Amino acid sequence: MQAIEYAQYGAPEVLHLKEVTKPSPKSKEVLIRVYATTVTAADLMMRTGKPYLGRLYTGLTGPKRTILGFEFAGEVVGVGEAVTLFKVGDKVFGGTTTLGCYAEYVCVSEHDVLTTMPDNISYEEAAPVNGSAITVMNFLKGLGKIQKNQKVLIIGASGGLGTYAVQIAKHFGAEVTGVCSTNNVALVKSLGADNVIDYTREDFTKNGEQYDIIFDTIGKSSFSACKNSLTQNGVYLSAVLDFTLFLQMIGTSIFGGKKAKSSATGMLPVKERLNYFMELKELLSTSKIKTVIDNCYPLSQVAAAHAYVEKGHKKGSIVISV
Ligand SMILES: NC(=O)c1ccc[n+]([C@@H]2O[C@H](COP(=O)([O-])OP(=O)(O)OC[C@H]3O[C@@H](n4cnc5c(N)ncnc54)[C@H](OP(=O)(O)O)[C@@H]3O)[C@@H](O)[C@H]2O)c1
Repeated sequence: MQAIEYAQYGAPEVLHLKEVTKPSPKSKEVLIRVYATTVTAADLMMRTGKPYLGRLYTGLTGPKRTILGFEFAGEVVGVGEAVTLFKVGDKVFGGTTTLGCYAEYVCVSEHDVLTTMPDNISYEEAAPVNGSAITVMNFLKGLGKIQKNQKVLIIGASGGLGTYAVQIAKHFGAEVTGVCSTNNVALVKSLGADNVIDYTREDFTKNGEQYDIIFDTIGKSSFSACKNSLTQNGVYLSAVLDFTLFLQMIGTSIFGGKKAKSSATGMLPVKERLNYFMELKELLSTSKIKTVIDNCYPLSQVAAAHAYVEKGHKKGSIVISV
């Protein structure tokens, strides 16, 4: 089968289209013909081997797993002898922490984050849901305990996480303000945001507004800068954890009032991620949320897709059609 492999950490050019052995499913695995996968920040980290600390997991001198890709949408074309939940012909979508989705075929455990696709969405719209939308559920619902009529500010509202976050916060009945650049104001409004702040013209930390939840999906703000924009018991959420935020999370968990929170969604137990995923499947099937796609690249163009994502300006998700 064809797959994108890399043998060393580095720039997008380390990614090469190769002919490799097609995998065979173990007893509790399903073999999936991948039709769509994605390029996310996690793939970039795996490719570059940065931050260096991550190499304890990815391989100290070079990548241990040579085919990237955490999420997929496709069709079940084979099942191991002990598989009970899926059958050949099922259209499925999901994600796997063992990677390997930049390929025509991937094997995943039937007990991984995997389910059948709603009929009303394409493979391209299905593939990005696992990483970005589950993360949004983990932050807004899990950490933020989002409630109806709360005021919620989404920083990075035009990005992969942000486009889902605006829609999911609206689904929970919040009053949503999205922060994005001039070019993306119309997009963020179209996703249902009640208010949009163009960060090139206005600094939300100085306009006197306060929010019950501030969700920074791209790590461009800080708890300290946002503190005055939080209500008395407001929660600051950041998808990007650094050492300062880590200390603030500990500090604010001990003392009452405003809280700072973050989490590594991929480290949550499969059961928890699958529960969020099933909730998202329902929202997709009833068209309450949709995937925003910036662009689709063919498998042979994965390096170009990585280079584009690295620029940090994508709108929604970048999909690879396999
Ligand atoms: N903790 C977790 O569990 C978890 C899980 C998944 C991802 N993540 C992290 O989440 C981060 C975001 O991922 P993503 O895929 O959503 O990013 P992304 O799609 O690449 O986000 C970029 C978007 O943000 C906009 N933007 C750039 N600067 C901005 C600013 N100052 N204010 C508002 N918007 C701005 C960009 O548009 P303009 O440049 O035009 O403004 C672009 O639309 C990554 O760092 C990833 O590692 C964390």
